[in-house]
Amino acid sequence: MKDSMQKQYTAIAAHNGLTAKITSGLGFDFLWASSLEVSASFGYPDASIVGFETIKQTVENMVEMSSVPVIVDCDTGYGNIVNVYYYFQKLKKVGAKGVCIEDNIFPKQNSFYKGSRKLEDAHVFASKIKVAKSIFNGPGEFVIARTESLIQGLGVKEALDRSNLYMESGADYIMPHSKKSDTQELFEFAELWQKKLPLVAVPSTYYTVQRDELQKQGFSIIIYANHTTRTIKKALEETLPEILKNGSSESIESKISPLKELLELTGESKVKELEATFN
Ligand code: SPV
Ligand code: MG
Repeated sequence: MKDSMQKQYTAIAAHNGLTAKITSGLGFDFLWASSLEVSASFGYPDASIVGFETIKQTVENMVEMSSVPVIVDCDTGYGNIVNVYYYFQKLKKVGAKGVCIEDNIFPKQNSFYKGSRKLEDAHVFASKIKVAKSIFNGPGEFVIARTESLIQGLGVKEALDRSNLYMESGADYIMPHSKKSDTQELFEFAELWQKKLPLVAVPSTYYTVQRDELQKQGFSIIIYANHTTRTIKKALEETLPEILKNGSSESIESKISPLKELLELTGESKVKELEATFN
């Protein structure tokens, strides 16, 4: 854990079986079951609206369709330590490998939403980490403790104090979430943190920073947390109106996936193989 150059992993967001199937084949190390993307996939804000059973079913489908391990963005842990205890066992059962919990108060709102919010008491949150780690303790399983201290403008010292407590409570990784467009404060945190545990970066706003630079600062997991839905949104909006404009889909055929590929991706060959074997 204390190597100066830990192996670095890259995660990409996904939000259902199809996006898990496609994105896990692109070379990323992990999928990130993003609360923002899963909420958005139902058309809802990222504000604890989608219920746990729906999240669990989504994660189960993602795990089934993914060729790489799935990290679940578990928001606040969906309540108190009792919620964490029951819900995290269910997430483990459906095959999640990593879980991330943040020190927001339930019901949470997305970190990039306007306005300020109070954080969870650090010791209350530390107990959730302990429960999470008592469940995600098998081979390849891990717990990411995410602090929103920098997001809430509470400064590097608060972020460090909380991260120390979360580390003592059993976290495997620390995510000091930031909404700044530069990495000055984040890297100040990283330098003072001194690689005590590997760090996790979510470069949504500070997207010009290079992976290598993050690695030097001790960030071992980089999460592209919303880029799948953003890619889909733009592709749909730019491509589909051409059908109406041009009176046919001819002009977009070269821009969209061939129908054959979609049929194959979702198992046409398997269906034919089953028929040939068992009919
Ligand atoms: C998510 O992907 O839902 C995250 C990251 O939690 S962020 O939206 O940047 O807060
Ligand atoms: Mg989230």
